[in-house]
Amino acid sequence: MKSNGWAMEVPFDNLRAIVAVDPGGVIGADGRIPWHFAEDLRHFRRLTVGHTVIMGRKTLQAIGRPLPERNNWVLSKTFPETSGLRVLRSLKNFLAALHAAADREKFWVMGGGEIYRQLLPWCVEVICTEIFTSHAGDTFWQMPNYFQRGDLLLRTDDFAIHTWHRSRPANGQKFSTHPCDSDLGCAV
Ligand SMILES: NC(=O)c1ccc[n+]([C@@H]2O[C@H](COP(=O)([O-])OP(=O)(O)OC[C@H]3O[C@@H](n4cnc5c(N)ncnc54)[C@H](OP(=O)(O)O)[C@@H]3O)[C@@H](O)[C@H]2O)c1
Repeated sequence: MKSNGWAMEVPFDNLRAIVAVDPGGVIGADGRIPWHFAEDLRHFRRLTVGHTVIMGRKTLQAIGRPLPERNNWVLSKTFPETSGLRVLRSLKNFLAALHAAADREKFWVMGGGEIYRQLLPWCVEVICTEIFTSHAGDTFWQMPNYFQRGDLLLRTDDFAIHTWHRSRPANGQKFSTHPCDSDLGCAV
């Protein structure tokens, strides 16, 4: 485990999540993201180009192709091996691949809902776009209580983007989850 103080007590300090969420926690509807803000997409691109993006099979299929200028990893038990894509068959597979990767590489968990829920316990930071308008949806996000809002990166009329850092919950409050609570956790 890498340890730079409590906030970094997760096995990886190069794994981050990036998400856009509406006021009701909606992140998706019918396999799509129910809004379109070019400035948010540019921000997503700026952060992720040149690095590795990790997504679930449904998100990959919604996008329709691997994202250019990035290493694309997809979690799926069913998706066939495909050139230009690294297919990981289980969470354990994914964690082993991350463990084997060079420290200097950056990894971005980019959804969707199932993948965020499983990988957030290993993320050191979240970059979260809060969309100001509400949308109907069927896929939801909840920020775990071991992340606390940090810097404002960008604000427009439509959304604000903040960093969320891992931090110790106040007054002995229990965590939502933590890698050490998991069978695969801190020993990976
Ligand atoms: N607002 C945002 O920032 C944002 C970002 C990304 C996506 N989204 C939205 O989120 C929605 C999709 O999310 P979702 O939760 O339905 O699907 P998802 O997380 O994209 O993909 C789920 C699939 O991932 C695979 N998977 C999950 N856990 C796995 C594991 N432990 N091992 C191996 N494979 C695993 C399975 O594929 P197999 O069935 O093939 O095994 C599963 O069906 C869409 O509406 C999309 O537009 C929103």
